[in-house]
Amino acid sequence: MTDIDALDLLEEGATPALRLLADAIDREFARRKPVTPTAYEHAASLLGVTTDAVEVLSESPDPPAAHAVGRWLHDAQERWGLTAAGAVPTAPALTATIPGASGDVRAFTAATVLLPAGTLAEVPLVVRVVLDRFGPDVDLIGRAQDTAVLPEVFESFLRTCRTTASPYWRGAYRVTSTNAGLQLQRWSAPKASRDLLKLDDAVWHTIDRRVHRVLDLADDLAARGLGTSTGLLLVGPPGTGKTQLGTVVAHELAGTATVLVPGTYVTEHFLTELFDLAADLSPCLILMDDLDLIAGERGQTNPHRLREFLNVMDGGLADRSGVVVIASTNDHRKIDKAARRSSRFDTVIKMEAPNVEGRRAILGRYLAWCDTALDLDAVARATEGATGADLKELVRATVLETDDAVTTAALLHQAREGGWREPKQAAGQYL
Ligand SMILES: Nc1ncnc2c1ncn2[C@@H]1O[C@H](COP(=O)(O)OP(=O)(O)O)[C@@H](O)[C@H]1O
Ligand SMILES: [Mg+2]
Repeated sequence: MTDIDALDLLEEGATPALRLLADAIDREFARRKPVTPTAYEHAASLLGVTTDAVEVLSESPDPPAAHAVGRWLHDAQERWGLTAAGAVPTAPALTATIPGASGDVRAFTAATVLLPAGTLAEVPLVVRVVLDRFGPDVDLIGRAQDTAVLPEVFESFLRTCRTTASPYWRGAYRVTSTNAGLQLQRWSAPKASRDLLKLDDAVWHTIDRRVHRVLDLADDLAARGLGTSTGLLLVGPPGTGKTQLGTVVAHELAGTATVLVPGTYVTEHFLTELFDLAADLSPCLILMDDLDLIAGERGQTNPHRLREFLNVMDGGLADRSGVVVIASTNDHRKIDKAARRSSRFDTVIKMEAPNVEGRRAILGRYLAWCDTALDLDAVARATEGATGADLKELVRATVLETDDAVTTAALLHQAREGGWREPKQAAGQYL
């Protein structure tokens, strides 16, 4: 029986005996009903006030930011010896393993933690984080009497968690997406270094100036209100080392900058979120390989699509600092001046098939292990038009043909065969 039923009886002029019976049933009902305070009632009791005397601030950040909050709370719990309840008082706190920049870390994915006065702020606060398949929520619950300070505390708390206190800060990640938002998976860049990738000094000079310097100075520049971001476009036929160049730079920045490698879907549909995340985790390098695959079907020339895309990227970089994008494309015809006129996507590095000296250097790199005297100049002269990938393939084929007994004649034979002249598809992916 419910309160309503008891009232009904009264209104119908029930006898005193019936009324007593109804009251007794109601009392019994109330006694048996489990008392389950809501999350906010629970928070109020943690703060020592009634539910109508709390103020709740709520945000729905991206999963990486919510993970950062969950990580911060997990740390705080250990640091200050706090106890964590679940997202609702009847459930336990939940944790998950997060691929942090310097190893796996534990983070709360559903928890309510009381942060006493003097920990996060001068006033006592309850922080609640919930990450489920519907997306993350972060609540900051404070006493109504502290309303004036809560928004600022919440904002700076979230900012700290998302940026330098994020477990993802300065790590390398593939970025994918789920219903809940962006998702980061640790990315181990394949081994790569400048001495293995033979490119013009001018290319490395541009990389030093436009990537390393911008990221090195990110903090200083931002502090002086000169925050800056930049975009580099690598343009050239397949096999000229564009993908490899991105990998080399990622290696060089390991531990000093965050590296994000977005999947095609993220690049197409979550560009703003991606740039926001990159700015949070700055200094940050974004590698976007093979824009051709994004800005149109492979082989289909669609200059408008790519131009539009570069414009959007440019806008994305414009109001964010400490972010550098290295993007690559196989087809320079798709890039026109209009797409590059803007200030942030103006650096184009042409990655052409190497000249004779370049070919000589690349052959030397792939035959460095060979102790037979070889006339690499002759091979370089015989491979006009070959890309780095072609020369690598030529050496591999010769090694297999000759059973490891590589000679100049065998290399020249392969060069004449010209198997490397096969038309190629763009095949670069950061794998
Ligand atoms: N200049 C070069 N020096 C050494 N290796 C090269 C060079 N250019 C390409 N390669 C090699 O060829 C392969 C394909 O290169 P990749 O970076 O995928 O080319 P792209 O992305 O331009 O198609 C890689 O194994 C790479 O190391
Ligand atoms: Mg490539």
